[in-house]
Amino acid sequence: MKKLLLAFLTVMYSCCLLAQLPQPTDYLQPSFHKGRREALRQMMPANSVAIFFAYPERVFSNDVNYRYHANPDLYYFSGYTEPEGVLLVFKEKQTAGSDKPYNEMLYVRKRDPRRETWTGKRLGVTGAQQKLGIDLVLENTAFEKLPIDLKTFDKIIYGGVKDLADNVNSKEDVYDLVRIFKAKAGVADLNDDFAADQAKIAASPYLAGEPYRSRVIHYLQEKAAASAAFRNDPTYQAMLSTKDSAAMAAIFEGINKRQVNHLLFEEFTNQLRQIKTPEEMELLRKAIDISSLAHVEAMKAVRPDMSERELQGVQEFIHKKLGAEDVGYGSIVGAGENGCTLHYEENSATAIGKNMVLMDVGAEYHGYSADVTRTFPANGKYSAEQKQIYDIVYDAQEAVFAICKEGTSFAAIEDTAAAAVARGLMRLGIIKSADEVRKYYPHGCSHFLGLDVHDKGDYDILKENMVITVEPGIYIPPGSACDKKWWSIAVRIEDDVRIDKKKMELLTNLAPRKTQDIEKIMQEKSFVDDLKIALPTPKKAF
Ligand code: GLY
Ligand code: MN
Ligand code: MN
Repeated sequence: MKKLLLAFLTVMYSCCLLAQLPQPTDYLQPSFHKGRREALRQMMPANSVAIFFAYPERVFSNDVNYRYHANPDLYYFSGYTEPEGVLLVFKEKQTAGSDKPYNEMLYVRKRDPRRETWTGKRLGVTGAQQKLGIDLVLENTAFEKLPIDLKTFDKIIYGGVKDLADNVNSKEDVYDLVRIFKAKAGVADLNDDFAADQAKIAASPYLAGEPYRSRVIHYLQEKAAASAAFRNDPTYQAMLSTKDSAAMAAIFEGINKRQVNHLLFEEFTNQLRQIKTPEEMELLRKAIDISSLAHVEAMKAVRPDMSERELQGVQEFIHKKLGAEDVGYGSIVGAGENGCTLHYEENSATAIGKNMVLMDVGAEYHGYSADVTRTFPANGKYSAEQKQIYDIVYDAQEAVFAICKEGTSFAAIEDTAAAAVARGLMRLGIIKSADEVRKYYPHGCSHFLGLDVHDKGDYDILKENMVITVEPGIYIPPGSACDKKWWSIAVRIEDDVRIDKKKMELLTNLAPRKTQDIEKIMQEKSFVDDLKIALPTPKKAF
């Protein structure tokens, strides 16, 4: 009877496969993810294990979740994109709990026909074995019975999980999986994130110049204010009672040597993900080409009576038309002074009017995100003031492009961009000295780009096949201490570049950057020009 049922299910399954509609065929292959696991293993110290958890699901409203987004690290090393998964990568072959030796294990959600009717197919154990090619795949309900004693490893390479909260709907959600892991690994306190914090403290421009001890305390105060548990954490308490920077550094040295080790996690994932493989470049190029073409369409479509949201829709339509699943970050469409809010996402102004619109919009294609900004006037012609500010930003970008090659430091990029913006603003009398430049240019110039829009990497020296953004900007809010004629002008130009040994490759070349080229393209027709659609006039019922 059982055999008969199995045969029936197999036939049904094959029929489903036959009936499947066409799907994209350019996903990363299991061989890519396997290669990444192997590269990680090469870096790992003897007798160690690396562990990756899926991101938690997030509620959008009542019983509706936000679209699920895979944890880029888990995806990079496994190809698994569902929630509630755990990947373990071992340095050495293991044998416990399996007939065959294995050096990697993936725990996945089990198949559930009732849930799948609502939310779609799950891979399950068999699907994950076939599709991902990982040595040993088990259901996540079995994670509690992990056949290996984690405490016997010299290093457990773990990076923490962002925004972890208990989702009471499931006993196998990430909160529970991490809880089980911590019990098995003997993690006693909450200090998960201290290693990641170190990198952020080191990189933060806001804390630069303060002695090390006070930088750490300033940084951690925010966390302490938000959480009583954090305030009582023994490591945090020990940090507070340090007398000087040397004592603080000694605490971090201790953290860095811990068995459950975040520093190694950051080091290995940064080193691997910052250099793009040819397969990754192919997907990144698609994300960037799609985004660049969408910017061109927005240039053609924009009109003074258009709303910010409408323009966002034009651009995101092109993303979908060309196959992108989503945007890599919330689309920023800011007219006039709204452009001064660096990550403005409300996009609520109902008309752009005489202003320029700053569009920072990038597509995500098979996990890889573009990050592109163009700024243009809704009426098709830059005013004299708009053009003067625009050209300063353009020149700053050109100055950075000239040094974008292997061996250049991020610090040199930041200095070059800030110096060029400062020179321009001084020339126009908007600032008096270069040290005022941060009033109108308050962000950095470059970040890595990849599976995250602000991608992982060592923000140190550029190497071949890194992909970074170059994005200087000038933002002059109303009321600024300069001539009124500059108020409400906000310009950012953001391009994506691949670093080569002796030069760089401009990946965003499909979207024009020069004012003349943009003005020319704006005269062309857009597919929305003839779109006639409006809500019916409301009847006066009350
Ligand atoms: N779109 C966010 C950024 O430019 O960094
Ligand atoms: Mn950016
Ligand atoms: Mn951007």
